[in-house]
Amino acid sequence: MFPLRSLTVLCLIIATCQAKSIKKAQANLLEPNFGLDDWQGKWFPYAPGEPHIPKVQRVPETTTIPNTKDDWRGKWFPYAPGEPHVIKQQNTSTSAASEEAFTDSWNGNWFPQAPNERLKQQVEAVKTLKETICDDGMRNLAVDYDPNDVGQSFNILCISNNRSTYDPNMSREAVLTEHFLPSAYVPPSKCLNVSIEYTHLPPTNGQYRPMPAEYGTYSYLPPQRYMRNLAEGAIVMMYHPCAFQGQVDQLQQIVGGCLYRHLITPSQSLSPERPLALLAWSHILEMSVVDKHLVADFIKKYAKQGPLAVENLSRLVNKRESYKVGLQTEARLVTSEDDAELCGYLGEQM
Ligand SMILES: *[C@@H]1O[C@H](CO)[C@@H](O)[C@H](O)[C@H]1NC(C)=O
Ligand SMILES: *[C@@H]1O[C@H](CO)[C@@H](O)[C@H](O)[C@H]1NC(C)=O
Ligand SMILES: *[C@@H]1O[C@H](CO)[C@@H](O)[C@H](O)[C@H]1NC(C)=O
Ligand SMILES: *[C@@H]1O[C@H](CO)[C@@H](O)[C@H](O)[C@H]1NC(C)=O
Ligand SMILES: *[C@@H]1O[C@H](CO)[C@@H](O)[C@H](O)[C@H]1NC(C)=O
Repeated sequence: MFPLRSLTVLCLIIATCQAKSIKKAQANLLEPNFGLDDWQGKWFPYAPGEPHIPKVQRVPETTTIPNTKDDWRGKWFPYAPGEPHVIKQQNTSTSAASEEAFTDSWNGNWFPQAPNERLKQQVEAVKTLKETICDDGMRNLAVDYDPNDVGQSFNILCISNNRSTYDPNMSREAVLTEHFLPSAYVPPSKCLNVSIEYTHLPPTNGQYRPMPAEYGTYSYLPPQRYMRNLAEGAIVMMYHPCAFQGQVDQLQQIVGGCLYRHLITPSQSLSPERPLALLAWSHILEMSVVDKHLVADFIKKYAKQGPLAVENLSRLVNKRESYKVGLQTEARLVTSEDDAELCGYLGEQM
């Protein structure tokens, strides 16, 4: 008796787990999600995610109940289990006509849709998504940067006919620029149905998309996206695609060792004279050669500042949705997600 019972329990657990994994798989497969969350009708055989617990009904002997197919009283499509498959209209030839044959007099709710309704629903769903999705980090991205458009790959390519103009020059001084913004002014976030332009390039303050980028290194990250992170106190490292690779690697290592809250992306907005840059909210440091001390000073002074900066970032980072298009490597933790100490390790070396 005991082994049988534990077997039943095991079966129930497995059924629950399967139901969960089915739900997960569905969430990925049904992309985009055609409004199933709003479904008011009946679910068959059970709602996604609901464990399938067979109903055991004790009914008085006197009542006559259907003793087949549980207690389902609705219509089966295309036919009930075990029923012979009878084609109702044998002389219909087109597929549209044969689909109509199944809908016949049924007035109830179909799940997920009536046999010939699918296309209509898809078209409508796509239409409503375009109208209602503000920013999910996946759809309608082309307004800023379309990762699938080869025409936009110029963002990440060196197209200069004289690469040596970008070479490091020890006698060229770094330049620190502050872009003025009234301190009381917090630029608004904008949905993907409107474009965002900036008055200076590369931009260090201004409007942004609502969804922040995951921290790390990107093949390309558009300004409208990193701006949200700058506002919460991030450091963005930028390099021109023609910049000397050894210098890019060196700067990347320093930044990655200084703080978690950083983003790295190429940018065509930098000059050949200073193809390396660090950005913080309203500030930019442009360099020809990596200078460790200048980099550390800049990060210590301007990181973790901006109109959306919060003391305890860690309480948000793990819970929030983030933009990951073009993410190559996620940022490592240095001290904590709050970046309790900036460039601490670097300080010991210097
Ligand atoms: C099916 O065919 C029969 C005879 O060929 C015809 O009498 C009947 O009207 C047809 N039904 C339909 C729905 O076309
Ligand atoms: C953009 O979308 C948002 C939310 O979906 C909406 O509130 C806003 O009015 C739309 N703006 C325009 C210009 O369509
Ligand atoms: C490329 O630029 C460097 C430095 O500006 C210059 O010395 C060199 O002559 C240039 N080469 C060509 C092919 O233009
Ligand atoms: C290096 O920079 C200095 C100062 O800007 C400039 O005078 C010099 O011509 C540069 N050297 C090269 C090789 O570009
Ligand atoms: C941040 O976290 C520290 C320690 O975990 C806590 O003492 C402090 O009150 C928190 N600050 C805010 C604004 O939540």
